[in-house]
Amino acid sequence: MQTRNRVKKIIIGNWKMNPITLKDAEKLFRNIMKELLGNKKTEIIVCPPFIYLENIKKLSRSNQKVSLGAQDAFVGDVGPFTGEISPEMLANIGVKYVILGHSERRTLGENNNSINKKIKSALASGLVPVFCVGENERDGNHSYFNVVKEQIEICLDGISKNLISKIIIAYEPVWALSSTVNRKDATPADCLEMAIFIKKILSDKFGVKTELPRIIYGGSVTERNAGEFLTNGGVDGLLPGQVSLDAKKFGGIVKIAENL
Ligand code: PGA
Repeated sequence: MQTRNRVKKIIIGNWKMNPITLKDAEKLFRNIMKELLGNKKTEIIVCPPFIYLENIKKLSRSNQKVSLGAQDAFVGDVGPFTGEISPEMLANIGVKYVILGHSERRTLGENNNSINKKIKSALASGLVPVFCVGENERDGNHSYFNVVKEQIEICLDGISKNLISKIIIAYEPVWALSSTVNRKDATPADCLEMAIFIKKILSDKFGVKTELPRIIYGGSVTERNAGEFLTNGGVDGLLPGQVSLDAKKFGGIVKIAENL
């Protein structure tokens, strides 16, 4: 497996369907930028709802440290697809990343085949897919490994070796998300075990000499556990959701990544 010197950590804030007004979205973004003034080493991405992206892009011009991501994108560039937004449209307003295959979208009907099409289309538009994988629950038979393997096999099917390294894979165990009822904490050891497994699937699929996707972790990331996941979780970054709506806490996570 090819290794490369990737000192840069990635922190991606997933705002989900928040906040409720553009004014609040701009305020949150401005506050995040204030928190990130000293930042140098970390790749920081904020993913607001579609409707705020263009305005927030304008705010981000004064601070090139933060890139923008969308939380989904459809397939293609234009066409008769009521309600959808294409990756080309996002790229045209300066969006650089797109979260694809999030478990909350899978709950709404997405599946591995539709996610595969979306990943290919995002790559063709020059966006960086942040492709989410993760099992709903852990069982004694360890069949959760098969769930993640199938997600990777199908969703990355047909993607060429030279594009694969552009993808970021986010391991998000659904049972550990802050929004999951009766959730449990995932540990850095749980994350490490899965990160090793994902790397093995990728190198089997794409070859040991191929530059592979970076892997990040998401699921109730906070300032309290960020350092542990980054140090002992076998991942290159984090995808906080709920905590990314708090500029100080999100900035705190970036600072932890900076100081490792
Ligand atoms: P959480 O969300 O940090 O609120 O658990 C992460 C995610 O769903 O991407």
